[in-house]
Amino acid sequence: MSSRLDERLTPLELRADIPALESTAYFNTGASGPSPRYVVEAAESYTERHEYDAHASGDPYPLAFDTYDEVRETVASFLGAHPDEIALTESTTDGINRFAGALDWTPGDVVVRTDLEHPAGVLPWERLERDGVEVRVVESEGGRSTERRSRRPSRTRNWCVSAPSPGHGARNCRSRS
Ligand SMILES: Cc1ncc(COP(=O)(O)O)c(C=O)c1O
Repeated sequence: MSSRLDERLTPLELRADIPALESTAYFNTGASGPSPRYVVEAAESYTERHEYDAHASGDPYPLAFDTYDEVRETVASFLGAHPDEIALTESTTDGINRFAGALDWTPGDVVVRTDLEHPAGVLPWERLERDGVEVRVVESEGGRSTERRSRRPSRTRNWCVSAPSPGHGARNCRSRS
């Protein structure tokens, strides 16, 4: 696996590593995105180790669970979190639904989302409305959300904001640094 995966790349360096971008400018900010060559190679290498070596050793699970732990550590360090705070889920939709289903909601709790969200950031909260959760939708202007955190309603338990927004690519979240 290339050590490039451990480097902090500028957007231009990352772009230069993505083969599909040699021949096109790719503007799809959600749904699907082309990978750098070393990401594909890392996935292939893991699949080969899992499918060829781990099964032959008699127990494929240690490789899988050790890899989950390594990934959790990498993601945690990227986000400034603790590995125990990172859950690996099947997809974004799966992750949001698990989160929405895991909290103990009380009638009157508020969820705030923007009007720029993917259905995965809309439907789980719509379902909670049946239980008395209030969903407030922040309107956007020109594809950009203008709401400020200081205007957060007092009973807000969750914000659901895509960064970047799937339709326009607007950067709705700023880094903590
Ligand atoms: C902002 C956003 N949320 C959720 C999703 C759904 O992602 P997944 O296919 O991983 O469930 C997408 C997919 O494009 C997205 O752009």
